[in-house]
Amino acid sequence: MKMGEKKRVLSGMRPTGRLHIGNLEGALRNWIWLENEEIYDCFFFVADYHALTTEHDKVYEIRENTREMLIDWIAAGLDPNKSMIYLQSDVPDVALLHLYFSMITTVGQLERNPTYKEIIRETKMKTPTYGFLGYPVLQAADILIVRGKYIPVGKDQLPHIELTKGIAKRFNRAYGKTFDIPEALLTKSQSVPGIDGKKMSKSYGNHILISDTDEIIKSKVMSAYTDSEKIKATDKGHPDGCVVFAYHKLYNQNEIIGIQEDCKMGRMGCVACKHNLTNKMLPLFTPIREKRRKVESNPDFIDEMLRENSKKVRKITKEVIEDVTKKVGI
Ligand code: TRP
Repeated sequence: MKMGEKKRVLSGMRPTGRLHIGNLEGALRNWIWLENEEIYDCFFFVADYHALTTEHDKVYEIRENTREMLIDWIAAGLDPNKSMIYLQSDVPDVALLHLYFSMITTVGQLERNPTYKEIIRETKMKTPTYGFLGYPVLQAADILIVRGKYIPVGKDQLPHIELTKGIAKRFNRAYGKTFDIPEALLTKSQSVPGIDGKKMSKSYGNHILISDTDEIIKSKVMSAYTDSEKIKATDKGHPDGCVVFAYHKLYNQNEIIGIQEDCKMGRMGCVACKHNLTNKMLPLFTPIREKRRKVESNPDFIDEMLRENSKKVRKITKEVIEDVTKKVGI
C-alpha cells in the first residue's frame, strides 16, 4: 500500500510530563495498536500551543514536560519509524489555519463547549483568555492542517471533534470544498481509576507513573483503596468498583475470574490480592524503564527526531495552508 492510499490517523496530547498508567491504557496503547495496522498512516503530536492556553507563564515546564512525555511515548513502544511524531509549535502553519477558522466560529459555540465550562468551574478560573476559549478551534486546525481523517480520542474529547466537523463543513460551504470531514475513533479501553478511586490524574496525586520504580509501584498499589466493606481477609468483597480489581483487569487478565470469585467468597484478603497484582505488574514495566534509559542515554535523540519530522510535516502543512489561503482568496 502506498503512503497516499493510507487513511490518516491524527492525535495529540498536551505535554503533561511523564505518563501515568491512565495515559498509557487510555490512549497510548491504542496509538501503538493503530501504528501497527497497515491501513493507517499515523501522526501523533505534542500539543504545546494548547498548553500555553492555560500556562503561558510556564514555558520552561512545557518544554521539560514535552521532552519527558516524548521519551515515555517511545519507551512505552510508540515507534518513530512507524508514526510521524512531532511538536505542534514546530508546525506554525497551524496558527494561520486557526486564524481563518476563528473567523467562522461563533463565540456562543465556544462558550457552550462542555470542557471549557468544566475547567472554568473546576479551577475557579476568573478571567479566561481568548486563547483558552479558542482551544477547540486550535484543535480543529491541528486536525485539518495535516488532513487528519481518523482521530483517536477518549469520550471527553467528542465535543471538540464535533466542533471540528462543524468548522470543516462551514469552511467548505464558505470557500468551496477543501476538507474531508474527520471522524473520532473512540478509544475502547476503560478509564483507569487512581489509587484513591477517583479519576487518575497527576493533579490529584493518585497516579502510578509508567516509569515508577518497582518499589514505588509496590508502595502505591499497597496503599490503594479497596472495598471499604471488606475489613478482614475473610469478609466477602465487591470487586466491581474496587481499584485493585480494575488494575487486575488490565494487568492480570488470565486470573481475573478466579480473583473475582475469591474476593466475593471471602477466600482472599486485599493484601494478598495486592501482592498478586504487583507480581504481575512489575515485569510489565521493567522493559519500559529500560527503554526509557536507552532513549535518555542518547541526549540528542529526541531533538533530532523532532527536527527531522518538523521538516516532513511542514511540507504537508505548507501545501494545505496554500490551498486554504487560495480558497479564502486573500
Ligand atoms: N485536547 C486534547 C486532549 O486534551 C489534545 C489535543 C490537542 C488533540 N489537539 C488535538 C487530540 C487534535 C486530538 C486531535 O486530550
